[in-house]
Amino acid sequence: MSLNVLLVASEALPLAKSGGLGDMVSAYAAALRDAGVDVTILMPAYPAALAGAVDVQYVARMTSLPGGDAKLLRGHMPDTGVPVLLLQMNHLFAREGLYRDAQGRDYLDNLTRFASLSAAATRIARGVRNVKRPDIVHAHDWHAGLTPLYMRLAGVAAKSVFTIHNLAFQGNHPLAMGGWIGVPPELLAPALSDERSIEFYGSLSMMKAGIVHSDRVTTVSQRYASEILTPHFGHGMEGVLQAQHAKLSGIVNGIDTATWDPAADILIARRYSVDDTAGKQACKRELQQAFGLTRDPFAPLVAIGSRLTEQKLADVVVQALPALLEQHPRLQFAILGQGERHLEQALEDLAAAWPGRVGVQIGYDERRAHMLHAGADILLHGSRFEPCGLTQLYAMRYGTIPVASRVGGLADTIVDYAPHEGRGEEVATGFLFDGESHGDVVHAVGRALASFVQPASWHALQRNAMSRDFGWESSTSNYLALYAGLVDARPALRDTPVRKTPVRARASTAGSRRVLAEEAFSVAAADMALTA
Ligand code: ADP
Ligand code: GLC
Repeated sequence: MSLNVLLVASEALPLAKSGGLGDMVSAYAAALRDAGVDVTILMPAYPAALAGAVDVQYVARMTSLPGGDAKLLRGHMPDTGVPVLLLQMNHLFAREGLYRDAQGRDYLDNLTRFASLSAAATRIARGVRNVKRPDIVHAHDWHAGLTPLYMRLAGVAAKSVFTIHNLAFQGNHPLAMGGWIGVPPELLAPALSDERSIEFYGSLSMMKAGIVHSDRVTTVSQRYASEILTPHFGHGMEGVLQAQHAKLSGIVNGIDTATWDPAADILIARRYSVDDTAGKQACKRELQQAFGLTRDPFAPLVAIGSRLTEQKLADVVVQALPALLEQHPRLQFAILGQGERHLEQALEDLAAAWPGRVGVQIGYDERRAHMLHAGADILLHGSRFEPCGLTQLYAMRYGTIPVASRVGGLADTIVDYAPHEGRGEEVATGFLFDGESHGDVVHAVGRALASFVQPASWHALQRNAMSRDFGWESSTSNYLALYAGLVDARPALRDTPVRKTPVRARASTAGSRRVLAEEAFSVAAADMALTA
C-alpha cells in the first residue's frame, strides 16, 4: 500500500499563488505522485481555485471549525491531475485577495480563516468518510502552522511535517484570541514556563505552533536551515528554532521542469536548448520590444523579476541602477514586479529618466516572467534573505546568468564564478555577492559584465547553468526518507481506529470568555470528529 500524504497549504499553482510557495506545493505534489505516493493537496476553496480545479465534487460537511461550518470538496489540479481537497467557507475565502484586501491591509480574520484550514486538516487525519486517512500531514508556512498543534491535541496517529518557506511571515495574532480557536490556556502561557507554548513575544504565533508541535521541521534550503538559527536571519524565532534544532533540516526546492523548459516553452518567442541557443536572440529581441528598450542585440540585458520589497533588496537596487547605467553605456534593464508602492514608483521614475535603457512593468504577469527569463542575459536577484528562491533556478534553466546575494537558497543553488578559488568556467553558473549596499550591487553586476564581453567564458557559464539538474528527484527522495523515518517509528500505522466522538454544538453567544475558551478547546482537542 502506498504512503498517503496530505499537503496542507494556502497556495498551489495554478489555483492560487502569491509567490514561490504556490509553485513549490504544486510541483512537489506532482513529484511525489510520480514517485508513487498517494498525495492530496488541501487548500481553501478560493473562487479562482473553485473555478480552476477540475471534476469538483462534494465530499463531506464539517461543522464547528473555528470559523464555522464548511463543505469539503474534491477535485483535481487542472494541469497535473493531482487530487485537491478544497475547503469551502465562502464567508472566509470567497474574497479577492488571498491574505489582504485591495488596499493591501491584512484581513482581520486571517487567524480564523487559517485556523479553520488547519482544523479541517486535522479532521481529515482523524478520518472523514470518503477521504483516505493520511499517514503524513505535511503543513506549509504559517497559514497551516496550527495543523501540527491541532493534530497533537486530537491525538491523531498521522505524523506531521512542517515546512518553513519564509520566516519573515509568522502569522502572529493577539494572544487573547487563542481560546477562540481552540488553543488551551497552558499553550498560551508565557513561553518561558512551557516550551510547548505558542506564545511569541506577547502574541500567538501560528508559525511557532508549526515549529514546536510538528514531528519534523524542514525549510527550503540547507543554508537557510542554519541561517535561521542566528539572530540576523531568525526574525526573533532563532531561540525557538535552536530549541527544536534536532528535528530541523533543509531540503532545497526543485522546479517544475516541464513548465520552465526553454526547449518546450510556448510562452516565448523562439524555443532553444543548451545544444542550440540561437533562439535566445529572438527572445531577447521580443523582450526589448515588449519593455520599450532599444533593439540592440549586443547590449547586455539585465532582468529583475520579483516582488518589489526590501526582502528582495529592491530599495538598494533602485539606488544602484543610475551608477550602473552611467558606468556601462549599453547596459539595459527589463524589470517586472509589484510590491511596495514607493519602490514601484522609484523604478517607474528610472524608466522615465532612462528611455530605451530601463523598461519597467508593474504587475503580476506569468507570460512576461517567461519572456524575461528567456530574453535576458543576466538576472539581478538581490535578497536580504532568501529561503530558497525559484527565480534564479528558472533563469539558469534559460541560460540567463544570475547575479545574486550570497544567502540562503541562492548560495546553495548558484555556483559563484571564482576562477582563483577553483570555481572557473568548468563549474560556475553565476555570480554571488556579499553585502547589502548599492556599491555591492554595482560591483557584482560589473563582475558579470566583465565575463559577458568574453563570449567563450560566458557561453561556458550558460552551458553549466542550463545543464544543471533543478528537477525534484533528489529533493523528493530526501522528503521520502524523512517521511519513512516517521512512519517506521509509528506503531500499527493503519490499524488505529477512528474515534467518533459526537460533535458538540458551539454556542456563538455563550456568556463568559472562559466558557467559550473551554468549549473551543474541547472542539479542538476532543471533538475533532467528522460530520460527513
Ligand atoms: P518569493 O516566493 O519569495 O517571492 P521565489 O523566487 O521563490 O520568491 O518565487 C517567486 C515566484 O513568483 C516565481 O515563480 C516568480 O516567477 C514569480 N513572480 C514574482 N513576481 C512576479 C511578477 N511580477 N510576475 C510574474 N511572476 C512573478
Ligand atoms: C518563499 C521564499 C522563497 C521560496 C519560496 C518557496 O516565498 O521567500 O525563497 O523559494 O517560499 O519555497
